[in-house]
Amino acid sequence: MPIKFNICQEEFKGKFQERQPLIIKGAVDTTDVRWSDVNDIISRCDPQSENFRVSFPSGNIPKDRYVHTYFHVGDVRRKLNKPALYDFLRQGGTLVANNIYDEPIFNDFAKYIAQFTGRQTVTSAYITFGKTDSYREHWDSRGVFAVQLKGRKRWVLYEPSFEAPLYMHQSKFIEEKYPCPTEPYMDFVLEEGDVFYIPRGWWHNVTPLGEPTVHLAIGTFPAFAVDYVKWIFRQLPECIHARMALETFEQDAETIRALSEHISARMNDPTAYQAFMETHLGEQILETRLNLEKLGDAKVGALKGDDRIRLNVLRTDISDEYLVTNGGKVSFKDELSTVRDFLVDNPKIGVSQLLEKFPHHSRSQLSEVLYLLATNGAIEIL
Ligand SMILES: [Fe+2]
Repeated sequence: MPIKFNICQEEFKGKFQERQPLIIKGAVDTTDVRWSDVNDIISRCDPQSENFRVSFPSGNIPKDRYVHTYFHVGDVRRKLNKPALYDFLRQGGTLVANNIYDEPIFNDFAKYIAQFTGRQTVTSAYITFGKTDSYREHWDSRGVFAVQLKGRKRWVLYEPSFEAPLYMHQSKFIEEKYPCPTEPYMDFVLEEGDVFYIPRGWWHNVTPLGEPTVHLAIGTFPAFAVDYVKWIFRQLPECIHARMALETFEQDAETIRALSEHISARMNDPTAYQAFMETHLGEQILETRLNLEKLGDAKVGALKGDDRIRLNVLRTDISDEYLVTNGGKVSFKDELSTVRDFLVDNPKIGVSQLLEKFPHHSRSQLSEVLYLLATNGAIEIL
């Protein structure tokens, strides 16, 4: 289920990312997302978790009103009280499931967004049938792609009053100092199949229209400047000036000057920046489907021509020689570097198509290389 962004990465990054909202009409084909899929995904969520909420503008419904606790052969178990949930939904409540993972029907969308933006994503789902707002005017501390899977929703947007909020900021705690503007910037209806990008810090209120609606809010998480500083600071004990004992400012002025110079030099060093980016990217996870029958069976050992694969890397622009994956750096020696370049340009492809592009390589050897990449998660078998 691809997303047709209808805009190239460069233009998106130059004009919209972190800057301006963007409506992408008809970006997704929603026919493959059925209510049975939505029901299955929601039933696999843990209703007791903080990530699962039934929400009204006045706040969230307490857990004990829709989570049933019972004993089962000495175990304490909790399950969704379905009649109670249906009742809250019929009253206009919104079901919110945050942090949905390992659900390809939803997270395939997230993967396209992750690879389009080069940023880690977190997926949430919002489901409602009434006309009641799920919340009130607020902003999020992450750039969000809203993917309208079913029905429609009205979005009213206001310009930011507090620029570039980070994860520790929440609109409700600082709205007195930085109130929502009175004049809306945009007021429109997001329709089924549309995708809407809203940069962090932009105020919004999202209203259902009295019809069934399901939308995903896919949050994007880049490396922030503050993360780079923290990374530099973690290495400071290696610097002699950082290890000095302090007494008085007059006495320590030289130590402080030398230390600040060291920090400044490190931060402005492109190799430090590159090392930080690689560490950051290596910590980001792109989900892959489990594939026991191929990758867990030692007798398989190679991919087949009719297998389809997808490069499972968040950013391919970080190095010309290797790929940074969650499993570590993957280097492509000598003649395989052209295979790497081909995969970067064609991140989703059939194995036989790829093999045909490299007639001078041994087919079996290449299939084994692909198999190895699949076992360590650098590529995913679709
Ligand atoms: Fe929001």
